[in-house]
Amino acid sequence: MKFKSLKGTRDVLPGESHRWQYVEQAIRSVMHRFNYREIRTPVFEETALFARGIGELTDIVGKEMYTFTDRSETSVTLKPEMTASVIRSYIQNNLGEQLPLVKVYYLSPMFRQERPQAGRLRQFHQFGAEAIGGQAAAIDAECLALAMEVYRTLGVTNMSLKINSVGCEQCRPAYRELLQGFLSNVREKLSAESQKRFDANPLRILDSKDEGDKSLTARAPLMKDHLCKECADHFVELQSTLLAQKIPFEIDGRIVRGLDYYTKTAFEIVSTDLGSQDALAGGGRYDLLVEQLGGKPTPSVGFAAGIERLLMVMDQAKLFSGNEPHPFLFLAAADDDGRAWASKASMELRRAGIATELDLLGRSLKSQLKEADRQKADYVLVVGAAELAKNAATLKQMATGDHRTIGLSDLAAEINKLSS
Ligand code: HAM
Repeated sequence: MKFKSLKGTRDVLPGESHRWQYVEQAIRSVMHRFNYREIRTPVFEETALFARGIGELTDIVGKEMYTFTDRSETSVTLKPEMTASVIRSYIQNNLGEQLPLVKVYYLSPMFRQERPQAGRLRQFHQFGAEAIGGQAAAIDAECLALAMEVYRTLGVTNMSLKINSVGCEQCRPAYRELLQGFLSNVREKLSAESQKRFDANPLRILDSKDEGDKSLTARAPLMKDHLCKECADHFVELQSTLLAQKIPFEIDGRIVRGLDYYTKTAFEIVSTDLGSQDALAGGGRYDLLVEQLGGKPTPSVGFAAGIERLLMVMDQAKLFSGNEPHPFLFLAAADDDGRAWASKASMELRRAGIATELDLLGRSLKSQLKEADRQKADYVLVVGAAELAKNAATLKQMATGDHRTIGLSDLAAEINKLSS
């Protein structure tokens, strides 16, 4: 029997892991520049945390979670997103007592049992950030700037930032009624999915992908035009901060998001390079979530972004050329004396910080040289009894074919001179 990875999961193979490392490093460096600190939470949590945090009626909680009962009869769920876990940790560890504004970031696998398709996996990875403890629009702007800065740093240009305001407890109920009033005229013509949302979550009907729904709701009233004064002022301030920081954005009154915790700001970063699953990132403000999960009222804002989708976009834009790890030096043994020497020397070189490879399969000199070429080693040093007798050997630079003689007694220092 041959095993295969499960549908919607994939391996990151040795030939591509450097891409992940490169992207992860860039993300960490941008996060640190914005003074966000990493948080790591467990891969699974109590199921109720997500049901309460994300919303019972969302697609994620309703049909996508990996939920099971463990041996102690506790219902646990593999995290489908990080915000609920981060807030659980924030409350549990009293993080708010140490700092008035807690700024954290994460890089983590997430699990959602969705129908797999291009850009949609069952185990995928997100990077994201949460700023917990402040209501100023300046914090929303920083969060957006942070997400955009990651893409800018990595050279991704084909994307746009779309912002909206989804209001608050004060203004949303009246708007909801207004929207339901508008939709009741076309209710029967809406897609089955949207009809199901009519009572529980009519706002989601606005971001339906169904063409019929889109034209039926083309003139629907939008939340952004019915905000209370506080939400409207907040939205205006967000826009002026983004303008002052020269972060390009568009206002899109149909951005609603598929998680229930948002208040005021909601946003998405989309790329036309992604096809139908076009969201690179999404997020917004969630002023009520900390309280809903048992903490003190703590306004907060954050975002998360798909790493696989980022890699797809970078691949298409050919932003990955030439950062594949490879040996700097390949020690090729001409005979058994050379082999014994290479075994010792490789250890010294590696300790001195030089990426070194040698033959461990007993291959001929010819196939060792072929191997050095295949592995794209920068230099090859051929050593056998004759070279050891002279205490010197010929070093070949693979890209240019240049040869030079190099002493073997202080090899690490000689090689380090080449790489500096
Ligand atoms: P989300 O929109 O559900 O938001 O996910 C954020 C991003 O994760 C998406 O824009 C997409 O790039 C990626 N993503 C989501 N599902 C999949 C999937 N099945 N396969 C591949 N990539 C996927 C959240 O998760 C919120 N927690 C964001 C947030 C943080 N809001 C406030 N703070």
